[in-house]
Amino acid sequence: MGATAGLTFTSLNPIFAAECSGVDIGEPISPQIAEAIHQGMDRYAVLVFRRVKPLTTQQQLSFTRSLGELEGKYTKIEAEEGMRLDTPLLSDISNLSPKNELLPPEDRKRLFSLGNRLWHSDSSYKKVPARYSALNAHVLPPEGGDTEFADMRVAWDTLDAATQTRIKGLIAEHSRIFSKGTLGFRFTESELNDFAPVRQPLVRTHPRSGRRSLYLSSHAGRIVDMPQVEALMLLRELTEHATQREFVYRHKWRVGDLVMWDNQATMHRARPYDDLKYPRDLRRSTLTAGAPALSFNGRVEHVAA
Ligand code: OGA
Ligand code: MN
Repeated sequence: MGATAGLTFTSLNPIFAAECSGVDIGEPISPQIAEAIHQGMDRYAVLVFRRVKPLTTQQQLSFTRSLGELEGKYTKIEAEEGMRLDTPLLSDISNLSPKNELLPPEDRKRLFSLGNRLWHSDSSYKKVPARYSALNAHVLPPEGGDTEFADMRVAWDTLDAATQTRIKGLIAEHSRIFSKGTLGFRFTESELNDFAPVRQPLVRTHPRSGRRSLYLSSHAGRIVDMPQVEALMLLRELTEHATQREFVYRHKWRVGDLVMWDNQATMHRARPYDDLKYPRDLRRSTLTAGAPALSFNGRVEHVAA
């Protein structure tokens, strides 16, 4: 437990994740409070803000903007099928159609979003990936639908020295083709074009805290200059190590909760629920990292794939 600028952080797990209280995130926040939240993120990487009611779109956007610059966001699937939310700046993390009806089994948006059940870091398939994601719960199913988080700094710190030396300079390629492809998802020609892989360091340095972490994601599907079978095996071994139970915080949602995680230091995944029976409506605002991920050495070694 620690307090700065009137904020209190209460640990939710022995290694990371904390509940943050003492601030009303539905009201404008001062630069001092914003800095205290950044410090909390540097330390805990996942912060939970409990609220009685969900935020309005404007409240969620203005809270997120007080911490950084929003990521530009607009997916082809939504462009084709219409949007449910009143702004393209929030990601619609739900199983609902624009008419607020449950998506049917074969719906493409449904199948696409099932990929969130694979461990990932948001927007790792973009050259300039995501910084924080803030997810606010509006409607929840009666059971299931938790979200799990894994601390990728601890994952790095606990690797044996030989493995650290072997992997610290490696570059991975990330694309949604790899993540959704694992599940057998079929892509259109134009998606195949849009989803060209980008290169990310496998071990990254946090731009604020300086801490190193494994930069894994289900979007990672190749390693530069490594035979493909070996690359996938390495990614799988590292992911297994990084997501062992002791490194994972499982969030059980309550309506109104806003959970904010640092994609530069964690992975997350959705857990299953009966999505053909119950609505689940969460809305995500996302900050851009503003610059490509820093390598192990703190440099930008990212080269376009
Ligand atoms: C996300 C995400 C997981 C969930 O919003 O980026 O992966 O539990 N969500 O809905
Ligand atoms: Mn996600």
